[in-house]
Amino acid sequence: MATIGVIPGDGVGPEVIGEALAILQDLGSAHDLGLSFQSFDLGSDRYLRSGEVLPDSVLQELAGCDAILLGAIGDPRVPPGVLEKGLLLRIRFEFQQYINLRPVQLMPGVETPIKGKGPGEIDMVVVRENNEDLYVGAGGFTRKGTPEEVAIQTSINTRAGVERCLRYAFALAEKRAKDRVFPGLSPAARDAGKRGLVSLVAKTNVLTFAHDLWNRAFEEVAPDYPTLATDYHHVDACCMRMVVAPERYDVIVTTNMFGDIITDLGAVLQGGMGVASSGNLNPERAFPSMFEPVHGSAPDIAGTGKANPIAAILSIGMLLDHLGAPEAAGSVRSAVARILADPNGPKTPDLGGTGSTSEVGRAIREAVSRA
Ligand code: NAD
Ligand code: IPM
Ligand code: MN
Repeated sequence: MATIGVIPGDGVGPEVIGEALAILQDLGSAHDLGLSFQSFDLGSDRYLRSGEVLPDSVLQELAGCDAILLGAIGDPRVPPGVLEKGLLLRIRFEFQQYINLRPVQLMPGVETPIKGKGPGEIDMVVVRENNEDLYVGAGGFTRKGTPEEVAIQTSINTRAGVERCLRYAFALAEKRAKDRVFPGLSPAARDAGKRGLVSLVAKTNVLTFAHDLWNRAFEEVAPDYPTLATDYHHVDACCMRMVVAPERYDVIVTTNMFGDIITDLGAVLQGGMGVASSGNLNPERAFPSMFEPVHGSAPDIAGTGKANPIAAILSIGMLLDHLGAPEAAGSVRSAVARILADPNGPKTPDLGGTGSTSEVGRAIREAVSRA
């Protein structure tokens, strides 16, 4: 038995979660997973109605779930930060979801804007640290509203927090390399018998305290994973390289803020915000992990039926993997792959089609049930 907490949220969130949930329910029955679902009314409507963002009693209820599925939050009627910090970041922090796992994989049938690159070149995973850095909310104002105003926002980096994230990334790279050698390895790394690659992305040339800690921890941890090659890129160069040579990346490990930024770029490499999925993981399973599309509430297309549900659907694949149901997870991914590879398969406008959210969701649901 596993209880899935569902937070449809705002904007396109409920639209894409509706499609993902129907598939998850089907898979729960087909694979005898004993899933039950508990829906949570959280987001802008509740806030505007009652002033509540995430009451402690609701956080307690969420803590009792085995995993959480989130659509998106954020609403133009609510000041920026209220829901983002009070709901999304609070869950990530309270449940010690210190890994934000964001695969960047171009699937056959999806166009990337990067000229000359295909699925063979775009296949990486970003391991984003998810509990520290600028996101902890350390800071404040003095003399607010005056010409002498000072605003401070502090990046917090702890050795323990950095190291657990690095070790997760190395272990993941080992797992990815188990069945194949990463094709983008340098000849020297291949000659040395290496199988996978972990790239640290930071800004050691400017952030000489915080990222010095990251770099030292990276170098100290690396020898524990002798089958892996390592390299280092400054974040600005990483953005350039993700575009000109994405085949250079296997596992990227990076800070919370940089990971946020480079994964929107990663989303574009794999076909856009409509297909990028993620997991906020508490690897020790002391608390529930949370799965969500990388995209936000997309107020510009909410209610139009144009939202691509694939990011949410691939997120349930990640959820099923986390729950220890790899077969069910695999069938979600292969159903999505089949619909995308089919020239006649429905696609939403972001992928160049004319299909609606529900048409794409239905086609994937049928493909899952046929498998
Ligand atoms: P966004 O990701 O919501 O939208 C960016 C662009 O991508 C828009 O043009 C949108 O139409 C498009 N897009 C997003 N999802 C799509 C989908 N499923 N199919 C097709 N196109 C899609 O980012 P934004 O506009 O910067 O933010 C809107 C709100 O969402 C803000 O309040 C922000 O704080 C919030 N946000 C929430 C999350 C989250 O809940 N995890 C993530 C990012 C942003
Ligand atoms: C994301 C979002 C969030 C983040 C916001 C909404 C707090 O952009 O999940 O990428 O910055 O982590
Ligand atoms: Mn983001």
